[in-house]
Amino acid sequence: MNRIGIVYYSRSGTGRAAAERLAEISHWPVYEIRDRHPRTGLGGDMRCMMDALARRSPDIQYEGPSLGGFDHVVLITPVWLRSVAAPMRTFLQRHGSEIASYSVACVLSGYGGLRAVDDIATIIGAKPRFILLLKQYDVIAEESDDALYKLTEQLKAGTAFDEAPAEISTIG
Ligand SMILES: Cc1cc2nc3c(=O)[nH]c(=O)nc-3n(C[C@H](O)[C@H](O)[C@H](O)COP(=O)(O)O)c2cc1C
Repeated sequence: MNRIGIVYYSRSGTGRAAAERLAEISHWPVYEIRDRHPRTGLGGDMRCMMDALARRSPDIQYEGPSLGGFDHVVLITPVWLRSVAAPMRTFLQRHGSEIASYSVACVLSGYGGLRAVDDIATIIGAKPRFILLLKQYDVIAEESDDALYKLTEQLKAGTAFDEAPAEISTIG
């Protein structure tokens, strides 16, 4: 299990902080999904909510490589209204079929992480190997390292990879 990449979306920086820390720990390459139309201010807040409620797939920019070049992809996304953040939905609709195997780290303030993971599994058509639910406060306080180290170790070891059920790890 040596070709592993990290792909993240982050509107306000939490997912980015988690992705960059995981990249530091693991030395895996990291790629960002960006909004085509920035979500700043109150208008941006409203658009996040409308996209989540209507399950829209807003336009995005992704300049990373094809996911087909990886054995495993770690997806990092915020939770919006107990769903996957809409830009990650767009990304997976476009590129999910290239994914051989994946894990998910959701960043969130409270609840809905597993429903967001369900959204992702439905789009990709396969379950994740590992799931992390990372509370925003812990990511910002740099207290998510234990979970990120554990994920790195498990993926590097690749133990019983094909048979392993998803493992849920939460912080806080
Ligand atoms: C429109 C919107 C809806 C949200 N809904 C949820 C939610 O259902 N559950 C939750 O725990 N956090 C929710 N959050 C909080 C975000 O998931 C959390 O702040 C996350 O860390 C943001 O990640 P980011 O900084 O990478 O954008 C929501 C945030 C926004 C903007």
